[in-house]
Amino acid sequence: MPTVAVVGAQWGDEGKGKIIDLLAEKVDMVARFSGGSNAGHTVVNPQGEFKLHLVPSGVFHPGVTCVIGNGVVIDPAVLMGEIDGLKARGVAVDRFFVSDRAHLIMPYHLLLDGLEEESRGKGAIGTTRRGIGPAYMDKVGRIGIRAGDLLERDTFREGLSQAIEQKNRIITGLYKAEPVKLDEIYDQYCQYGERLAPFITSTDLMVAEALEQNKKVLLEGAQGTLLDIDFGTYPFVTSTTTMAGGACGGLGLGPLRFDGIAGVFKAYCTRVGSGPMPTELLDETGERIREHANERGATTGRPRRCGWFDGVVGRYSARVNGFSSFILTRLDILSIMPSIKVCTAYKLDGETVVDPPYSASALARCEPVYEELPGWNIDITTARKFDDLPEQARSYVKRLEELLGCPASVISVGERREQTVIVRELF
Ligand code: IMO
Ligand code: MG
Repeated sequence: MPTVAVVGAQWGDEGKGKIIDLLAEKVDMVARFSGGSNAGHTVVNPQGEFKLHLVPSGVFHPGVTCVIGNGVVIDPAVLMGEIDGLKARGVAVDRFFVSDRAHLIMPYHLLLDGLEEESRGKGAIGTTRRGIGPAYMDKVGRIGIRAGDLLERDTFREGLSQAIEQKNRIITGLYKAEPVKLDEIYDQYCQYGERLAPFITSTDLMVAEALEQNKKVLLEGAQGTLLDIDFGTYPFVTSTTTMAGGACGGLGLGPLRFDGIAGVFKAYCTRVGSGPMPTELLDETGERIREHANERGATTGRPRRCGWFDGVVGRYSARVNGFSSFILTRLDILSIMPSIKVCTAYKLDGETVVDPPYSASALARCEPVYEELPGWNIDITTARKFDDLPEQARSYVKRLEELLGCPASVISVGERREQTVIVRELF
């Protein structure tokens, strides 16, 4: 299986960081295709605990080439901070490349993300305020600045001055805030350009060559399917295609290249930010999961909303991505539960539905219909084979396989690499 996409199947924070760090051992290249520094991927390995926002979670394996594709929006300050932080802790960042076509997050994107959120009042999306939405708006609005532009100063200055003229009309006119300054931003980004120059290249060509040579390539997603701009709980979503298909446009690779698509699901659900989440537990059980699992955002530190596994959005996620298998994370957390609920349908205005409605307000009215499964109540963090898991845990996984319509490939039973059960090899 040379080319496999690994994507979030719920509302983000499914534990993609651990999984990609683990799988990266087997591959030649890890290529990230979407999102930006809104992502927060926690990796715990022999080198320590790391929180990555932009650098692919394959960086800890010396032989692996890491690529940030054109579909990612890059905040150069965050990227350089991350590279410096990794180097300071002894992680080499030498086989690392950034697409010349990747759009940059500019200071006015950060400013506008905050201003837009505040103007939404009670309807705020609860963004990470990392400038993601405004940066993708400029990309689609054809007024964005791309990484490669930093290497062509005249083009850069011209594009930047056009963009700033437009932004300042909005910043001062609409939001009555202080305008941003062209020279300041230009000088700062020229400095970033000098530092980033060795990394910036046509990564689409690198990916094509790797595929040509039958190298193993892991396509790394960020966020989750329910945060997808088209198939998420719009408007409470991020501004990109978070789904597997996004790897095509986000890296420059044809859809026939995929050998596998693995969706990462947490054994329960979490969500950070606003928007509907039918299985959210606002009671003691939700609090117990949050505390036991330390469910706090890696990017913003916000407490995550917790709830039972939602099989309705799960099946939907499997359908719109075309998962060939799923990866289940944090199964060990459920060991504290005497019994475990799984949502298999919703009640919506008196009707039973098995597909999530398209609108966020209808989804917010959905009442989960639960099936209750017995818990196992013993520590499973030492399980390394499927058969090491207690019967109840195996039944839980089997029930999820039925609901999702695809088999489990990897099950994580702890934060460390070795705390993993491989059911089916992905590479
Ligand atoms: P990883 O890759 C969880 C959420 C935000 C907010 C919405 C829009 O770690 O899974 P944005 O800043 O993207 O405009 O915010 O999306 N969000 C995430 N939630 N994990 C993430 O990334 C997220 N990235 C964005 O909380 O609700
Ligand atoms: Mg995260």
